[in-house]
Amino acid sequence: MSKQAWHYVDPATVPHLVTKEIPGPKSREWHARCTKHFKGLSEQVKLFPVSFESGFGCTLTDVDGNRYLDFSSGIYVTTLGHCHPKVSEAVATYAKKLMNAHDFTTPIKTLLMEKLAEVLPGDLKGFQLYDCGTAAVEAGIRVCRAATKKHEMVSCFYDYHGKTYGAVSLGHIRSSVYGAVRAPGMHMVPRPDSYHPMWTKPDGTIDTDQYLAFYAQYLDKATVGSVAAFCIEPIQGWGGSVMPPDDFLPKLRKFCTDRGILMMVDEVLTSWGRTGKWLCCEHWGVTPDVVTLGKGFGNGFPVTCVAVREPFMESFESISASSSYGGNPMACAAALASTEVIIEEKLLENAQHLGEVALKRMERMKQEHRIIGDVRAKGCLMGIELVKDRTTKEPFNEAGKRVYQKAFQKGLAWIPAGHILRMSPPIIMDEDMLLKGLDIIDEAIGETQKEIG
Ligand SMILES: Cc1ncc(COP(=O)(O)O)c(C=O)c1O
Repeated sequence: MSKQAWHYVDPATVPHLVTKEIPGPKSREWHARCTKHFKGLSEQVKLFPVSFESGFGCTLTDVDGNRYLDFSSGIYVTTLGHCHPKVSEAVATYAKKLMNAHDFTTPIKTLLMEKLAEVLPGDLKGFQLYDCGTAAVEAGIRVCRAATKKHEMVSCFYDYHGKTYGAVSLGHIRSSVYGAVRAPGMHMVPRPDSYHPMWTKPDGTIDTDQYLAFYAQYLDKATVGSVAAFCIEPIQGWGGSVMPPDDFLPKLRKFCTDRGILMMVDEVLTSWGRTGKWLCCEHWGVTPDVVTLGKGFGNGFPVTCVAVREPFMESFESISASSSYGGNPMACAAALASTEVIIEEKLLENAQHLGEVALKRMERMKQEHRIIGDVRAKGCLMGIELVKDRTTKEPFNEAGKRVYQKAFQKGLAWIPAGHILRMSPPIIMDEDMLLKGLDIIDEAIGETQKEIG
C-alpha cells in the first residue's frame, strides 16, 4: 500500500490481535451491558459478540485494541473505507452549518442533483432522497404505480428489499421473521441463479428464455393485468452474491419494454462502486426506468435515493415524495463527497481490478477445498458457496458458521450468513490487503474441512 494513501497502515499491523481470546474481555463486557437492553441482534453479531471502538480505512479496532482487516464495509456501506476524510469533513461542515431544511432546495442539494444527472447512465434525471434503503424502495414502488396507474408488482425469489410492508412484500418472506402476509398484488417469480439453474439447455448452460417464457405466462394467468413494474436486484446481495447469467438483464429489459411495464432495479446494495460501476446493471448495458441507491451512496451517512428516467420523473409530483430527513444538507454533502471521491481516486477501476484478483484467488481455493461449491465476484461483491457435496449442492450451513467464526478470530471482520460466505471489502483496498484477507478465509475453510468436511 502506498504510504501516501490517506488510509495507510503498516501492513504488518493488520490484523493485529492483542488479547488471548477474541473477542476479548472488554468486548464481552460492553456487549453484555449493551444487550441487556439492545434487542434483536443479527445472527452475525450473536455468533461473534465483538464491540467495535473505531474504524480507519480498511481496518476496524475493537475495545480491547484488536485491529481487524475489514471485509464487510459495515454492511456493504462504508465502500470508501471507514471515515474517509473528505466525506467526514463534508458531513462535519453541514453539522455545524445547516442540519435540516425539509425539502427546500439548498446549494449542496443542487450540486448533488447535477452530479447524479452527470454520472448516471441514460436519461435517469429525476431524483428524490431518503434516509434508508427501505424508504427508497417504498418510494420506488409508489412512483412506478403513479407512472403507470397500475398497482401490481412482480419481483424475484430470494431478492431482498428491506423491512417495511411494501418492501417485505417485494422480497423473500419467512413468515416467522417478517410476518406472514404479503400485500395484495405483489407477485414473485424465480430468477436464474448461475449455480442453481432451474432451466438449462441441452448443453447444460442456463436457459434464460425459459425464465422469460414463464414470466410471460405468469403475467397473463396469475396477475389481474395491472402490473406496474418488475423489480429486481441485479446481483442478489443478501441472497449470497448470486450472479445472473450475462444475457438475463438485457432480456428482462426488453421484456418489460415490450409489455409496457416498468423495470425497477434495486441497487441499494450494488450501486456506487460496489461492483465497479455506478450502477451494477451497467455491466450489461441496461438502464432501468426506476432505480434505488443506498448503502455506499453516502459512505456511512444514512442517505439513499430513487432515480427515475426522464419520461416518468414527473410522477414524483403525485406521490408526496418528501420526508423529514431525506435530502438534508449533511446527507447531500456526504453523497456528493462520496461521488467525487470515487471519481478522483479512480475507484470504479480499482473495484473491478480487485474483483478479478479475488476471483482468481478464490478459484484456486476451490481447487483445494472440496466443500467449496462455487466462487463468484463482480468488483468488490464476492461470494463463496459451501456445499456438503458438489453434485447435490446441498448447503453446508455448519461449515459456514465455523468458517465465519474462525476467520473473525484470525482478525477478519466480515458478514457471511449461512452457507454462503459474503465479502464486501472497501473499494479503496489494495491487492495485498485483499489477498491477505482471502488467505485468512482459505485457512479457515481448510481447518473447517478437516474438522467436519
Ligand atoms: C437490495 C436491498 N434493498 C433494500 C435494502 C434495505 O436497506 P436499508 O437496510 O438501508 O433499509 C437492502 C439492505 O440490505 C438491500 O440490500
